Amino acid sequence: MIKLTRAYRFSASHRLHAPALSDEENREVYGKCNNPYGHGHNYALEVTVEGPLDADTGRVCNPATLDRLVTQCVLENFDHANLNEQAEEFQSLVPTTENLAIVIDGRLRRAWKSAFEREWPRLGGIRVRETKRNTFEYR
Ligand code: NI
Repeated sequence: MIKLTRAYRFSASHRLHAPALSDEENREVYGKCNNPYGHGHNYALEVTVEGPLDADTGRVCNPATLDRLVTQCVLENFDHANLNEQAEEFQSLVPTTENLAIVIDGRLRRAWKSAFEREWPRLGGIRVRETKRNTFEYR
């Protein structure tokens, strides 16, 4: 089994605000990230795929196929977007980077078979780096 991790970048803005909490609680939980005008991040996304090597190509995955999938499912929607306003998932979900990682994973899994028709490769997991100090992993 071989794992390939491929890196992508996108920039997006968000505001962390939970409707279930009071304004004061929101400020306490999210601090500056609750600023009503939002703020941006340069997110770094890493997508890991895994599987046996294809005997003919000697590869675990065609990177161009993965790039197309990630572009269609994630980058085209999220790059230079306001996540609160422009991503349907975040109409009902606070756009924390924890939730963003789960949303990206779900988007990739739902579309996976449209890009990779065979049993392998499979999606091994993803990582989303929000800042130098915060990286979230989901698998
Ligand atoms: Ni933030």
